[in-house]
Amino acid sequence: MITFDAESRIFYLENEQITYAFAVPEGRSPEHLFFGPRCGRDLTTGSYSQNGLAHQIIRKDASGFAYNPTRVPQEIHTALGGDFGEPTVLLGDSAGNRRFDLSFSAFRILPVKPALPGLPSLRGGETLELILTGRGVTVTLLYTLFEDCGVLARSLSVRNTGEAPLSVRKAFSFAFSLPVGSYKAVSLWGAAGSEGQLQNQPLSSFGLFGVDSRRGFSSAIHNPFLALAEETATEDRGMVWGANLVWSGSFALHAERMTTGLVRFQGGFDAEDFAWKLEPGESFQAPEAVLAFSEEGLSGLSRAYHTAYLDHLIDPARARKPRPVVFNNWEGTRFDFNGDGLREMIRLTGDLSPDVFALDDGWFGKRNDAFSGLGDWTPNEAKLGGPLSDLAACVRKTGMRFGLWFEPEMVNADSDLFRAHPDWVLRTPCDTPAEGRSQLVLDLTRPEVRDYVAAAVNRILDNCPVDYVKWDCNRDLTEGYSSSLPAERQQEVFYRQILGLYNLLDRIVGTHPDIFFEGCSSGGSRTDPGMLAYFPQIWISDQSDCAARAKIQYGISLFCPLPAQSCHVTASPNRRAAHLTPIASRAAIAGLGAAGFEFDPRRLPPEELAAVPELIRRFREDEDLVLRGELHRLLSPFGGNWFAEELVLPDQSAARIVAMKFLENFNQPDPRIYPRGLSPDTRYRAEIFSSVPGKAAPQKTGEFLMSGRSLMHFGLRPDFSAGDFQSLILTLRAEKDAV
Ligand code: GLA
Repeated sequence: MITFDAESRIFYLENEQITYAFAVPEGRSPEHLFFGPRCGRDLTTGSYSQNGLAHQIIRKDASGFAYNPTRVPQEIHTALGGDFGEPTVLLGDSAGNRRFDLSFSAFRILPVKPALPGLPSLRGGETLELILTGRGVTVTLLYTLFEDCGVLARSLSVRNTGEAPLSVRKAFSFAFSLPVGSYKAVSLWGAAGSEGQLQNQPLSSFGLFGVDSRRGFSSAIHNPFLALAEETATEDRGMVWGANLVWSGSFALHAERMTTGLVRFQGGFDAEDFAWKLEPGESFQAPEAVLAFSEEGLSGLSRAYHTAYLDHLIDPARARKPRPVVFNNWEGTRFDFNGDGLREMIRLTGDLSPDVFALDDGWFGKRNDAFSGLGDWTPNEAKLGGPLSDLAACVRKTGMRFGLWFEPEMVNADSDLFRAHPDWVLRTPCDTPAEGRSQLVLDLTRPEVRDYVAAAVNRILDNCPVDYVKWDCNRDLTEGYSSSLPAERQQEVFYRQILGLYNLLDRIVGTHPDIFFEGCSSGGSRTDPGMLAYFPQIWISDQSDCAARAKIQYGISLFCPLPAQSCHVTASPNRRAAHLTPIASRAAIAGLGAAGFEFDPRRLPPEELAAVPELIRRFREDEDLVLRGELHRLLSPFGGNWFAEELVLPDQSAARIVAMKFLENFNQPDPRIYPRGLSPDTRYRAEIFSSVPGKAAPQKTGEFLMSGRSLMHFGLRPDFSAGDFQSLILTLRAEKDAV
């Protein structure tokens, strides 16, 4: 609910769990008051003046109230007015003015959340539109609070209302401040094949802490997610604030401890090399930030994000619906396949009965390695042993559906496309463009390039029975230069490239509602909410070793819902890890997401191949908990030898705990596992399934009855005596009779 108290000039956005409040004093920028557990509508504004002290800038608002701008927590910080913290927006006009004071001018409460022009955003209801005006400029802030979770969407746009061009040099999406206190920053760093690594740092020192990407994409190096937590917060207790961006380009998220002790939290797209020329009457739209708050620690924050993304961002026709069990050939064959081999794989895979057989990279152009062919979306019939549609028919005959890999945004220099259009790539005229994985980046700021790519991909999708697409992107952006734009617009290129990408996705994904699209970027280099708006699931890592994967999935689950994480069972050892792991454990971890498979069925050990139908049956049987369950992370694999996560149905009628011990630790204690979120007075039937040496499928190793209360307080004493990488799956089902 959104209310405005006209007397105190305070806006309250509140649902059952949280309150977000700010004041709109006359003649100055809105003052942030509160973001936290639900409060009354009786908050007060601050007193922020320390007149007379050296190096204190004092200004007066329209009511004569004297304040020191650096000391006031604001909803948007502008530069050069005496606020010496980091600004939220930076503007400049053609006369050289760079100071733009903004003050409240009007508001509207819209019944439905408006879409953002050119950008993905969450769907929602009641939305506060706050209009701030300054000299020749209007800034509009949008706020939407969701009723079913502690999440607030906030965005910002700038409109030139003057007579001459304006330059937008920075436009972060959100700003709010945490009160004086002790906090830690929780973020996700990584690399391709090692995404989602959790890091935890005390925010004890004064100054700026941040995570960012300057790679043109959101990246695996730092995910566009940052949480600030009370110093004492744990997985299930304590106050935590999160920020995540519905944006797939470079970004920055910053926490700045001011000398006042307040922590200024803000972020948006990266503006280090940015300037956007805004003609009179034009607007610039910054991406949406998704802000979340929980009093139930980091797991509580994750549950809020999962609800927001599954119910308000991901396509509702897919979000909580059963996911196809995909079999992909990449880890099994890489580029090395031919028509006969593929048909043999299809026959063997069909016997295992997954839903989709997906043909990965290498089916088009002259593409037998990563050095050539990218961009030439013409099936290589000689390699495929006939037309692509014949192969699709062969897949469909087995009862599976047909999937195909694309990397639409890129091109190899050794390709017909590049030879015909060398100017269609991003490149600085004075330099040779940098290559990454031997490829160049198509210039998606150009409409004719987008037209070509959309037509080339859609031609395949419309002429061949394709049911599933994996959309990949395998390099970062380096050159922010488009040959089609004038010099004064070159600093817009990185931003325009992402707008071009979203436009391309609208024209390919948006025009094929019957095709299931999965996102990928060398694994999880673009796992962000912007991509979730198009892809109901993302291949979150090329790393599929279950020990490394357990960490990646644990980290990414901080914001990314489990059904949106594509997780495949692959052969062991694999190319990225020498560990020998039981297939039952690989499947236990993959079963915490949208599960599938990726190996060569001609080479997998026969006993493992024989277990696959049983593993698929289990994935399907357990899927409801992945789609609707609430996540509790129980044991962190970061720094520990164990992993445990629990999913509980919202009505508490069923739960599943998946646990794994990494390495045998002879004669040393294993931790107890304390389930959470159960109904205390319900009796649960617990069944334990374990990976057992010599058996491929998980084996039942125990069964007992226990109340939710005892399970949560007495805990579980797992039997981890079956060697390295042993996994346990504990299913809990409510019995009809209460305790
Ligand atoms: C990326 C993806 C892989 C595979 C290859 C194909 O690395 O992450 O899963 O699709 O590209 O080249």
